[in-house]
Amino acid sequence: MRLKDAKKIRNFKFFFKNSCYMSKISTKIMDSFEINKIIAAVLLTALIVIGIGKFADILFHVEKPKVSAYKIEGLDAASNEGVTKKSEEVIVEKVDIKVLLAKGDLSHGEKVFKKCSACHQIAAGGKNMIGPNLWSVIGRTAGSVSDYKYSKSMVAYGKKWTFEEMNSYLIKPQAYIKGTKMAFAGLRKEKDRASVILYMNSKGDNPKPLP
Ligand code: HEC
Repeated sequence: MRLKDAKKIRNFKFFFKNSCYMSKISTKIMDSFEINKIIAAVLLTALIVIGIGKFADILFHVEKPKVSAYKIEGLDAASNEGVTKKSEEVIVEKVDIKVLLAKGDLSHGEKVFKKCSACHQIAAGGKNMIGPNLWSVIGRTAGSVSDYKYSKSMVAYGKKWTFEEMNSYLIKPQAYIKGTKMAFAGLRKEKDRASVILYMNSKGDNPKPLP
């Protein structure tokens, strides 16, 4: 009995060892199959992605514009008042302000100025209030009323109040002259700006000829 048992156990051991070995080999083979499959899948995916990219490049080839499409109205005119500017652009600006001023009228301008009169007088020899007297302001240098204390930004700005400058300023004063102490949101409507500019131009020692 004992001998038989020993044999059985030996047999079993052999069988067990063998089957372990077999399963090890088979998983190795399986593994290499799996790895091959995975590598193939990854390569294929990479190829497809690159391929799509190239294909899209060909389909949607876009020429980059040479000149930026967004021009900020008024900025050009502001920085290039001199003669050095390309004549074409000057004409464009002039046409713009001409078109704009044509939208305004004096009596509407007088009404719009009521918003300004909380802080500004506009009379010959008028007083400075919260803001400086605006008599003859069109054509005058910004920040130049001698008995008014301007902000540093307004003095530093120091340009002539042309129609164009005044228009750009009045759209949104604090955006156009950063640091100005004129606490006024601005005039969004072209008609309002045009009218108030015409009105201010009429309130001066020598009104400027309209463009
Ligand atoms: C809340 C008060 C207030 C209102 C409203 C206001 N302003 Fe002013 N304005 C000021 C102050 C303050 C200054 C001085 C700004 C500075 O020194 O930075 C100024 C400056 C100006 C200047 C520059 C003057 C110069 O001598 O260089 C102009 C032009 C002007 N305002 C036009 C207007 C117009 C046009 C309106 C109405 C549409 C208006 N303002 C409404 C307070 C005001």
